[in-house]
Parts: sequence; structure tokens; C-alpha cells
Amino acid sequence: MATLGVNVDHIATIRQARGGIEPAPAHAAMIAELAGASGITAHLREDRRHIQDRDIYLLKQTISTRLNLEMAPTPEMIKIAVDVLPYMVTLVPENRQERTTEGGLPVREREKELQKAIETFRNNNILVSLFVSPDLNEIKAAKRTGATHIELHTGQYANASSGPAVTEELGKLKDAAMAANKLGLHVNAGHGLNYQNVSPVAEINYMEELNIGHSIISRAALTGLELAVRDMIALI
Ligand code: PXP
Repeated sequence: MATLGVNVDHIATIRQARGGIEPAPAHAAMIAELAGASGITAHLREDRRHIQDRDIYLLKQTISTRLNLEMAPTPEMIKIAVDVLPYMVTLVPENRQERTTEGGLPVREREKELQKAIETFRNNNILVSLFVSPDLNEIKAAKRTGATHIELHTGQYANASSGPAVTEELGKLKDAAMAANKLGLHVNAGHGLNYQNVSPVAEINYMEELNIGHSIISRAALTGLELAVRDMIALI
């Protein structure tokens, strides 16, 4: 059975809208853990649009599960990761203009560079996962880099707009998970998963952890709204 890693980036998105201190990703992480999350994920982006450096240090100090630091494999981020020592880093491509991570890492194109970064992480006992498209050649390349885990990009599955397209994308994820398992890689997945589309992905053989953020934080904003309004009325 797959476990859940909760991505707390968008708690920071709400905080950054005002530039203050609330809501805090570390507080959200604690609630997620109390509710049963197996891990906490945060993406420290080059532009610091949501998670800030301090959040990563606080998460590392306060969570009791596993910290998965999502990051681009840049010298700046590698330095921070080696200082923080998260349980795992998930390497993702980053493009300044994007709203969110758009594609998987082009592993074959960047194989040498990734190998070097992964060696640094291994020397510091940090596990490495590569965020990849469900593409056999990319998965084989991921294995060659020395990564022990992959995270399958579920964005195309989540965005598929017709029944046959959903089935096709799900098939790609199943084949990719099986191939990765044969190569000895651990398999996680994420991006765009929500309350409507998560079940078939959770049922894929060899799937270990699903990293989910936006849909959980969106639902929390709505399911928590009634109590928040009542609390404010009580004060007024
Ligand atoms: N996994 C990776 C590698 C991501 O980049 C993201 C988005 O930051 C997620 C999972 C979570 O995606 P979502 O917020 O759509 O659940």
C-alpha cells in the first residue's frame, strides 16, 4: 500500500501573500503528521516564491517523519541540502517562468551533471530521487546516475481529459513503475493528484509514496473555513 507525503509549499504561498509569519509550513507539517502523513515535502525554489530557507531548517528540526527536499540540482541548492541533511532530496527541473514543475528531469541530457550531484548526496547519506516522466529510457538513465528512487510525474495523467487518455496515461505509469522496480529503483509519484484521480495511482504495483500538495491544501482551506468564520464571529 502506498503512503502519503504531504507537500506544504502552498501553506507558504498563503503566508507569502502577506509576507508575514502565518500560516507556517512547520505547523502544517505537524498537523499532517498527526493525521498520519508518512513524510513531509517542501520545494525550495530558486525564486523563493513560497518556501523560504528558514522553513527548510525548521521542518528538519521539528518534523518526526521524513523530510523530502525538492530542489533543482544547482550548486546553491546542493550546498543548502548538504547543510540541512534531509532524509531525501527529489531533484526536479526548474524554469523561472513556470507556475509549478512542468516536466520531468531530462535525465539522459543531464546524466553526467546528475551523477556528480548524486555522489555528493550519497557521501552525505542523503537519499536521492529523480522526478521523471514515465519513460523507460529516462528511467534507465535514472538508474545509471546512482539515484535509488524515482518519482513518476503524474501531471499528464492528471491532465488527461478523456477516458481513453486517462487509461493510456495510467498504463504508462504502471509500465514505468514495473520497469523501475525491475531495475531495483524505489518508486514514488506525484503532481496534480487529487481526491478524484488518486486511487488508481495508489493501486499501481510497487508504488511506495505519493507526494501531494495543492489538492490537500485547497481542501483544507475550504473544510476549515466554516470553523474559522465561527471563531471570528465569536470574537466579534
Ligand atoms: N512532486 C513534485 C516533484 C512536484 O514538483 C510537486 C509540485 O511541487 C508535487 C509532487 C506536488 O504536486 P501537487 O501540488 O500538484 O500535488
